[in-house]
Amino acid sequence: MKVLIVGGGGREHAIAVSVAKSRKVEKIYCAPGNAGIAQIAECVPIGVMEFDALAAFAREKEIGLVIVGMDDPLVGGLTDVLEAAGLRVFGPRKNAAILEGSKAFSKDLMKKYKIPTAAYENFDTPQAALAYLETASMPVVLKADGLALGKGVLICHTREEARAGVKTIMEEKQFGDAGNRLVVEEFLTGREVSVLSFVDGRTIRTMTSAQDHKRAGDGDTGLNTGGMGTFSPSPFYTREVDDFCRKYIYQATVDAMAAEGRPFQGIIFFGLMLTENGPRVLEYNARFGDPEAQVVLPRMKSDIVEVMEACIDGRLDEIELVFEENAAVCVVLASGGYPVSYGKGFPISGLEHFNGRDDVFCFHAGTKQQDGKIVTNGGRVLGITALGSDLRTARAQAYEAASWVSFEKKYMRHDIGKAIDEAEV
Ligand code: AMP
Ligand code: GLY
Repeated sequence: MKVLIVGGGGREHAIAVSVAKSRKVEKIYCAPGNAGIAQIAECVPIGVMEFDALAAFAREKEIGLVIVGMDDPLVGGLTDVLEAAGLRVFGPRKNAAILEGSKAFSKDLMKKYKIPTAAYENFDTPQAALAYLETASMPVVLKADGLALGKGVLICHTREEARAGVKTIMEEKQFGDAGNRLVVEEFLTGREVSVLSFVDGRTIRTMTSAQDHKRAGDGDTGLNTGGMGTFSPSPFYTREVDDFCRKYIYQATVDAMAAEGRPFQGIIFFGLMLTENGPRVLEYNARFGDPEAQVVLPRMKSDIVEVMEACIDGRLDEIELVFEENAAVCVVLASGGYPVSYGKGFPISGLEHFNGRDDVFCFHAGTKQQDGKIVTNGGRVLGITALGSDLRTARAQAYEAASWVSFEKKYMRHDIGKAIDEAEV
């Protein structure tokens, strides 16, 4: 079978590596891909929002499976366009991708179906939001309704900050149309854990847990980023937590979407906060996390293409998902200045160390080929993942491997996986 992957970041590289292991796959294409993906797939210069061009390409190449990795095309309806062209697509249709595309929708869904989440109110005008904030207790969390690269969330400790936040999101429109509506949410405290799952509209199979590090600086300081590093499994995701989530969150979400006439086929990413009162859903994503995929997928034993086809055909109940009993840590190498402003085009050296290894991976996020060299081409440049028998071993190996690679202004956090030491394991 020929497979087309839509996207071009570290997540798509991790997906491509998993797809390449499938015995069902003869060729992989990726649009637009990057320099790392190009080592195992044919990259084609079609943008992820060029829906008609993607459909035409997939038909011409007789693609048997299209995998949509990114949120923007999913929320924009790429799956619907490809399906209308007769293609088989892994990823939710537009009416289901709204689970990620609108935080107001997802909050209302959770409320209606009694899925545990932070208390909240939705607002369509800044006046109404400001009036509400006069009596709300602080801290409070403001969320732009739509997609904002993970940056549309403001945690406000004072009323003054909250008023300014409403202005930033709804009046100055810092996150564009994503800020047309606003969710004002109760501030929760606890450990954050990510759980990804395969869903076929009816059945859900969860993957092993992971934890991300969203802030740019060591000690969780600095601005929010797309994610600076991950590890899997999370030592805080205990049997008890899993039981709770199975009972009140996972199947309940899938059933709620089906009951709303929006059956969800693809990946649901549950962003969970483990509070004193039990797990709460912070957010849903309609795709693999980036860089969660870079630690979860290398641990997956099951054939990813078989699982995805089972999702498309509504027979996920026949599939057992199997993961290795090991651990993985991913350290993101970014370009200095990320997430604000950073240079591009710096040559990268040391990549050859990863050739032929199956215990360490160098997933490319923002890279490209230029004059026969691989150069940086984004804020997050590479994700260095190591597998190990346990989290500490994997972490030591990931940092060792991260030292093999150099490029100008290379930047990374030095404390990825610090929570590992805080867990009683
Ligand atoms: P989200 O995009 O909704 O996951 O929010 C981004 C980040 O903001 C999360 O990963 C949390 O660290 C933080 N966050 C979101 N909602 C809350 C909340 N209700 N209480 C505390 N922190 C939150
Ligand atoms: N790493 C968080 C996300 O992919 O949204």
